[in-house]
Parts: sequence; C-alpha cells; structure tokens
Amino acid sequence: MADIKRIGVITSGGDCGGLNAVIKGVAREAWALGIESVVIPNGYAGLYNLIDLEQVVVLNAERVSRIEASVAGSEAGHSRVKISKIKDEKKYERIKDGLKKFGIDALIISGGDDTGSVVVDLSSRGIPCIHVPKTMDLDLQPYSVGGDSAINRISIFTRDIKTTGMSHNRVIVMEVFGRYVGHTALRGGIGAEADCILLPEIPVDFDVVYEHMKSVFFSRVLRSDVKAGTYIIVAAEGIKTASGDLLYDESAGVDAFGHKKLSGAGKYVRNQLEKRMKTDPAVTEFMKKTGMWAPGVYEIPEVREVTPGHLVRSGASSAFDVNFGHRAGAAAVLLLLEGKTGNTVVDVDGNKIIYINTAEAIKRREVDISEIALFESLGTCFGRKTEKFKYELVEQKGPISRHL
Ligand code: F6P
Repeated sequence: MADIKRIGVITSGGDCGGLNAVIKGVAREAWALGIESVVIPNGYAGLYNLIDLEQVVVLNAERVSRIEASVAGSEAGHSRVKISKIKDEKKYERIKDGLKKFGIDALIISGGDDTGSVVVDLSSRGIPCIHVPKTMDLDLQPYSVGGDSAINRISIFTRDIKTTGMSHNRVIVMEVFGRYVGHTALRGGIGAEADCILLPEIPVDFDVVYEHMKSVFFSRVLRSDVKAGTYIIVAAEGIKTASGDLLYDESAGVDAFGHKKLSGAGKYVRNQLEKRMKTDPAVTEFMKKTGMWAPGVYEIPEVREVTPGHLVRSGASSAFDVNFGHRAGAAAVLLLLEGKTGNTVVDVDGNKIIYINTAEAIKRREVDISEIALFESLGTCFGRKTEKFKYELVEQKGPISRHL
C-alpha cells in the first residue's frame, strides 16, 4: 500500500454531468480510509498556481455533504490548460512545490483525452495520479462520466423542439457537441427518434439527406389532417463533407488545449437544404398542396438550426452518471493506494476494480458504424445511401456482466 495521507482532486477539460459524484466518491472513500482529500480548484491552471493559494478546501464530511451529486458541472471547477504548454521552464517544479506546500501526496484527476495526456505526463515525472474518465463526447476507450447525462439532455431537447417545428412546419437542424465523434448525436438522436442523424464518422452526402427529408417530411405534412409536420436532423458538430473536410466556422478559433472550436455545422446543413429547395419544383408543388404557398413571402419550408451548445452538459446529471461517478471516484482512491499511478478507472464490476493504462484509455473511440445499417433499416437517414445490415450471431458464453 502506498503511503498516502492527502489526495488532491482535480477536474479538467469541459465540465459535464456526474463530476460531483466523482468528487464525492473520492472524498468519502478516502475519508473512510482515514485519508484526507482536498480540492485543487480550476483544473490544471489551479494545479500550476497551487503554490500561491493560502489554503485548500478539505473535503471533510461536512463539506462533502454540501455537494449535490445530481447537479452537473464540478464543484472543483475547470480549465482547459495543458501543463506541457505552459510557458514556464520551471512549471513542474512549481507544481511539485505547490503539492508539497499543502502536503498533497497524490492526485485524482477527472477529465478527457487531453486531461489524460497530462496524467501520463505528471505520472512520468513522479507525481502519483489516477485518472477518472470524464467527457460528454464519449470518445475515450472506457465509459466516461457525463456521456449519459449529455445523451439524455440531447434527447430531451430534440424531442421538445418537435412541438415548435411542427407548429411552423419547419425542418430543424440540431447541432450538438461531441467534438470529432458522433456518440452523443447518435444516441441522443435515436433517443428522440430524429429523422436524420449526421455523424463525423460518415461523410455527409447532402443529396441523400435532401431526398430523405423530402420523402419523410412532405408525406408527413400531407398525411396530417391539419397539414402539420416537422423533420428533425441531429448533426454532430464535427461532421465532414465527402472529401473529409470539417464543416465548421473557422472564425470560432481554438481553445486553450489548441483544438479548433467546432461550430457552424448546423448552419452549413441548413444552407445545403435551402439551396436545393429553392430550385426544386417539387417543393413549390408541396407548398401549394399543403396550402402554405404565399408568393414572394413563403415559397419554401423554413429550415432552422438550433444549437443547444453548453446546455447539453449543464443542469442535472443522470442517475446513471451519479452511479458511475460514485464508484469510479471510490475506485480511483483504491487504485492510488495500490500504487497504480498512470492508470484510468474503467469501472467497478462486482468486487473487481477494472483499470487501464491511461495512455491506452485516451485513444480516440469512434462510433462503430457497422451498427448504423440497423437504424437505417428502421428508417433513420445517416446522410449516406442506405446499406444492408450485415450481422453475425454470437451466443453469450458465461455470465453477463452489467450494471442495469
Ligand atoms: O469536449 C467536450 C466538449 O463539450 C465538446 O463536445 C465541445 O466541442 C467542447 O467541449 C466545447 O468546449 P468549451 O466548453 O471549451 O467551449
């Protein structure tokens, strides 16, 4: 057992659901083992500046009870700072001095791929660290806290937007966070029965989207006794054209980790649909048949992009994330005590604490597109020509391990 008396807790990267449960899981497990845990505020920026703090917040029973696990975001605060990029030759010494000042022997750090790369960096410099996977993007190898909460919120927003979409017979394009992968768009979109889901993993053919929109939306409105309907597209912010170019607005700039800020995919999709509608006689015919046609004023159905942005990772955490957060936080303490620095918690399965080397954990996980044809057979468009679902049968051998 490693001799650890005080653990520093850091949350880093973008905030999301379930993080407060991670903090509580760490604090309560540590407390139960007679170890103190403290907050290092505001991510790696706070770690770098720890030396300048006068005091740190101790996560004792009273302080922890004031943290509500079901509230999203992090009581410990966040920043997007990569230690190796800080322009200070003495940054690692400064960090070590800060840790020494407060008697912090080890760190538990919750974050995504960039955060994890710093865990690898700090561990290699002799600072004991355990990584708890966190990102709403779900692009790490293990499950990451925040993913389920974001999916639920995307589903709710997408479902809710249908009422206004239907009232105005609009096509709605919901652009959602998820960075370079489409997990949240896919699961959130399916959760809300979106008509079309666009993912970075599938280059978008806008002719296919347009034809699907026409057939689904037009017939939906025409079938309705009050001539009302909507067509919902969930577009991941990182979608690409057939030539592999990202469809984002370059002017948004880069974040502190150096990543392009992705935004503008929804607007691009809207433009593509509007462009086609304006020259399509079938659209004029549809407008006339449905009684919507008003020459010079209302000649094509409206297409609107909606960007919930940070709302998808705000508000409340899902119960699943609170469950995962508690057990992953507690497991991180046990891994630290077992000297497993530089590792990431995967999960707790019964009495097994599963972990993986952090360098492996942060390798990007994309959507497995072999599943997409199944949803296509159910009628969802993915911006490509539909494919036949090629399946194989696999008989489960042995017990099935699962939490729900
Ligand atoms: O990585 C999580 C994430 O929510 C991405 O999906 C999104 O692109 C990004 O963070 C937004 O970052 P910020 O909060 O820095 O604007």
